[in-house]
Amino acid sequence: MSSAEGYPSSAERASSDVSRIVDPVSTVESRPRAEAPDRALAHVKPCVREMGAYTLRPYEPRIKLNQNESPYDVPPAIKERIAERLAGRPWNRYPPFVAADLIDAVSEATRWPSGGVLVANGSNELIQSVLAVTVGPGVAVVVPEPTFTLYRLMTEVNGGTVVPVPLDAELRFDVDAIVRAARESSAAVVVLCSPNNPTGGALTREEILRVHDEADALVLLDQAYVEFGGYDAIPLLEGRPRLVVLRTFSKAMAMAGLRAGYMLAHPALAAEVHKAKLPYNINFFSEVAAAEVLRGRALLVPQQDAIRAERDRLLAELAPVPGIRVYPSAANFVLFRVEAPGTTHTEVFRRLLDEHGILVRDVSKYPMLDGCLRVNAGTPEEDGAFLLALRAILAAAGAD
Ligand SMILES: Cc1ncc(COP(=O)(O)O)c(C=O)c1O
Repeated sequence: MSSAEGYPSSAERASSDVSRIVDPVSTVESRPRAEAPDRALAHVKPCVREMGAYTLRPYEPRIKLNQNESPYDVPPAIKERIAERLAGRPWNRYPPFVAADLIDAVSEATRWPSGGVLVANGSNELIQSVLAVTVGPGVAVVVPEPTFTLYRLMTEVNGGTVVPVPLDAELRFDVDAIVRAARESSAAVVVLCSPNNPTGGALTREEILRVHDEADALVLLDQAYVEFGGYDAIPLLEGRPRLVVLRTFSKAMAMAGLRAGYMLAHPALAAEVHKAKLPYNINFFSEVAAAEVLRGRALLVPQQDAIRAERDRLLAELAPVPGIRVYPSAANFVLFRVEAPGTTHTEVFRRLLDEHGILVRDVSKYPMLDGCLRVNAGTPEEDGAFLLALRAILAAAGAD
């Protein structure tokens, strides 16, 4: 007789002694009979079951222009300082409970009081933390779209409702519509990504202020790309406790591989968001590296200048290419739409990769971005190769 839950009874186990002899390593006999995964999935929140996952297909291209990373590594002089500090610290101990060294470095660099600084394992984690403390079932979050997908994902994981506000036909923010949506939905949060990923458009100081002043919501302002252009909103934080600024080390600070980001907000709000963060969420490698990169940031300025120059070159050289439409960008990437009648964005993406080893990002599944690809600024050589390849592919498709 089998026991409850489908586990074999002791009598059944005894009768299977033969298989124990035949296969001494096997533990199959003690495993429960497999249940259908539905029994586990039944406990997952319906709002999560309905969602799609944030995924990225792995490729190994010759030239990688798909994730808006810096094409340049952290300068060797900074790496040496980081390595020295890492070697001199015991690895068997937890990192400090409060990442004070990095918080101090952020505070010094931004001139924002350390009590209003949170650091994390990438700014992604701070998006998650802010939405975890503000969003629950029935709570509205205004999200201009298309934008970075994590805002929608994290809102929905928390059971909240995304109130999408489409960009205008030129893919610019529609500030009137954002304000209207925030008021009509009594939104708890308005998410603004400026410069916006994946379109590259940025908000002016006045536009950010308008959204803040006319909506009674937290304004979660993601400035992951602000070193490349657009208004840097840190000066607006003073006296505006509803404004939250997120920044990352993954783009202009050349540290995507180490995962670090930070949040600036009123200390009272930072203390609440802190409650949703896991303890020791930033390991001491990333903490030390981010602090040293910030302190040595003057050494990164030439890289950042080069990336901006390459972004401008991409914009200038793509604009006259027949068969595509290019959108303005304040970030380190450029969005373009494949409009040539003889080909498709899928074909262009595939030929760039298969024939030239160049990987860009297919963003065509975002709302309003049918036919669009995104390419980030690389080194001059990488961008030269991309431009040459793209022109050749479009010319072969008969675009003129
Ligand atoms: C707008 C935006 N915010 C946040 C992030 C995530 O940054 P991090 O690497 O700090 O988690 C990205 C990464 O692509 C991004 O595009």
